[in-house]
Amino acid sequence: MYAERVLSGMRPTGSLHLGHYHGVLKNWVRLQNEYPCLFFVADWHALTTQYDDPQGIVSSSWDMVIDWLAAGVDPERAVLFIQSQVPEHAELHLLLSMMTPLGWLERVPTYKDQQEKLENKDLSTYGFLGYPLLQSADILIYRADKVPVGEDQVPHIEFSREVARRFNHLYGREPGFEDKAREAVTRLGSRRARRYQELRTRFQQHGEQAAIERAHVLLDEVAGLSHVDRERLCGYLEGTGKMILVEPGALLTEASRMPGLDGQKMSKSYGNTITLREDAESVTHKVRRMPTDPARVRRNDPGDPDKCPVWQLHQVYTDETCQAWVQQGCRSAGIGCLECKQPVIDGILAEQAPMRERAQPYLDDPRLVHEIITDGTHKARQLARETMRDVRDAMGLHYG
Ligand code: TRP
Ligand code: SF4
Repeated sequence: MYAERVLSGMRPTGSLHLGHYHGVLKNWVRLQNEYPCLFFVADWHALTTQYDDPQGIVSSSWDMVIDWLAAGVDPERAVLFIQSQVPEHAELHLLLSMMTPLGWLERVPTYKDQQEKLENKDLSTYGFLGYPLLQSADILIYRADKVPVGEDQVPHIEFSREVARRFNHLYGREPGFEDKAREAVTRLGSRRARRYQELRTRFQQHGEQAAIERAHVLLDEVAGLSHVDRERLCGYLEGTGKMILVEPGALLTEASRMPGLDGQKMSKSYGNTITLREDAESVTHKVRRMPTDPARVRRNDPGDPDKCPVWQLHQVYTDETCQAWVQQGCRSAGIGCLECKQPVIDGILAEQAPMRERAQPYLDDPRLVHEIITDGTHKARQLARETMRDVRDAMGLHYG
């Protein structure tokens, strides 16, 4: 019933690093060629944990957008915007909060986990508890059916599905909906009606998603089907009400465990990162200082790449020939560690070169970035407004 649409958001954390590039941004760049995409800066989400220090959020947001553009996210293909510039997210969040059981929020796994992890912060706030619901509003307001996220975020997508389902259940009922839907089925003609019922059963009893898609194709073929009937038949397929909010699905981003400078996963909190547009000198310096297999104390001590974080970077940045050279050279003490690190340095610099180039015009003229965001915000807001109109209507909140 609704077009396929991808939506994802990222908290503004300042300059992004190569882990973000390999783990998230490369995927966005691919998706923007396959689907209509919306990508946004989740600045309100930053406040859920950073409410005591909001000063850096705006500049982090701008820096992050430049990094997105540097990575190849293309404003001609994807809509880029900032969450707080589309206040409809807050309105939907508020309305959804009225019907979201507290227990659902308390049971979201990240709630307890994060509170424990960030124990030096008081996270027993209303906003922090509600943050998965704010995320649901972010998604549902665009009727996005595909949300690329990492594994840790999958429970939030599940939660959003439940919220959408509950909303549709509570407010998606028009009086006599089932009768009206059944009448609409008869208007399909007997052959199509039979086929429709069969597909409906396949979905409702066996959860076959493909059956829904087939049924939509079938409905598209019916000439002269009224818009209202079509809506009813779409709603009736999946349940017993109208679908006002679309249940999203997670597009699981393959876990890329991008190694950092110390062999642990690259992460700002470990201080082991290389930023997306870090200058060449600093990259060289950082890689040269990387720890290696501790058994290689002297140049002629043989080593074991499996015990060396540099080897992990080789697996990301160099080709098979080079990797064979490392394996052989390390184990036989035929190469030195600095020698071994050079192809990694070259690989990183080669990856960064086009990013630096793409970022330059935006650094020279920040107005370009503002224009991209203004344009994206405008487009996002139009979609958000449409959904809010339907949401208010369904809830009976119209005052003439
Ligand atoms: N919660 C996500 C994170 O911490 C960011 C986010 C906010 C998001 N709203 C979203 C991701 C909507 C996908 C869709 O990473
Ligand atoms: Fe690591 Fe390479 Fe040195 Fe071996 S030669 S210990 S793989 S840096």
